[in-house]
Amino acid sequence: MSSLKGRSVVLGVTGSIASYKAADIASKLNQAGALVDVILTPAAQEFVSSLTFRSLTHRPVVTDMLDADSELAVEHVALAERADVVLIAPATANTIAKLAYGFVDDAITATVLATTAPVVIAPAMDAKMYQSAVTNENIKRLEDRGYLFVGPGVGNLASGLTGPGRLVDTADILNAISDSVSSTKDLEGLRIVVSAGGTEEAIDPVRHITNRSSGKQGYGIAQAARDRGAEVTLISAPTALAPVDGVNMVNVTSARTMLDAVQDACEGADALVMAAAVADWEPAEFAQQKMKKVKGQDRLVLELKKTPDILFEVRNEALIKVGFAAESEDLIANATDKLQNKNLDFIVANDITASDAGFNVDTNRVVILDKSGGREDLPLLLKEKVGDHILDRIKLIKAEANK
Ligand code: C5P
Repeated sequence: MSSLKGRSVVLGVTGSIASYKAADIASKLNQAGALVDVILTPAAQEFVSSLTFRSLTHRPVVTDMLDADSELAVEHVALAERADVVLIAPATANTIAKLAYGFVDDAITATVLATTAPVVIAPAMDAKMYQSAVTNENIKRLEDRGYLFVGPGVGNLASGLTGPGRLVDTADILNAISDSVSSTKDLEGLRIVVSAGGTEEAIDPVRHITNRSSGKQGYGIAQAARDRGAEVTLISAPTALAPVDGVNMVNVTSARTMLDAVQDACEGADALVMAAAVADWEPAEFAQQKMKKVKGQDRLVLELKKTPDILFEVRNEALIKVGFAAESEDLIANATDKLQNKNLDFIVANDITASDAGFNVDTNRVVILDKSGGREDLPLLLKEKVGDHILDRIKLIKAEANK
């Protein structure tokens, strides 16, 4: 289930006796590493409580499109924009009918109408309702527009009947959404090198200088590139994150070891994305023995020297080079300088003073500046989604170069 890791799944729950089964789906999605946003229709709230889903997903649950505290109130298409997949489970005949005709009278129908992500629908209803001509027509209408249906299963129904109408098993639903999010392999054939994490510059055998980078942005880019079919090398300075499956992981510690690994990996690569927070300075001398406290001494001067600038050093004419600029002031001016000095194709600038962007959070708000003077301000996005924007640009630059 690795393709759901870090993916944004919107789970719409409608009102059915099977609504309680959505709690298991939410829990399994959460365990698979997905970011799960649950929307409950008013009818679903008669069967299950928002507290159940809030406890399972550790995220707010949307229960009312007009709720002033909900994210949807501020930006009514926020979930639609963020979603990698929208899952409706269980989906009643009523919700299916509304979707078939574009009605928007709750947060689920609003999100589905506004999203460009795949929509997976798991129906659950009485067999007679499922077999009715109108439900069949509605499902066909939606399938023709690219909506994916999983189930229903056949078995005993709450009505006492036996037949089609049961919500399918959680495992089948998870497989269906996992397939739908990883279906675009548009980067197949591309070799992409990504660096991540904060480097550690050793002072003595027990101490080092490092920074607050969590590695989440670089890991997010590597995952997104892998999911889109690229061959990925992830060069990682120490982080608390689990290795990314399906990529070549190379673990390094210092700026110098990262430089060697990046140079090796960039031979024949198409793009280098330097998301790592590389130390600008390293101790001028490494003390072979642990430095001791000296009685009476209350200051210590540590001499530092410049580390190699990796982006600058890597010279492979065909390589697309992408840098990051994490700034606490003069964001655009500083990022523009780096773009030019490091000879980059584009730079991803983020203001690290914002609490919902930058270090150690799952989201980022960035501005992309390119070498022809273009500027794109992206909204607050999951770090994997920021990765997708970066990868879209790499794909475009590559396509232009191949013309
Ligand atoms: O100059 P500054 O360190 O702010 O630039 C940030 C960008 O340069 C990041 O993409 C970072 O990974 C990269 N970098 C580098 N080598 C260094 C320092 C930073 O490639 N020694």
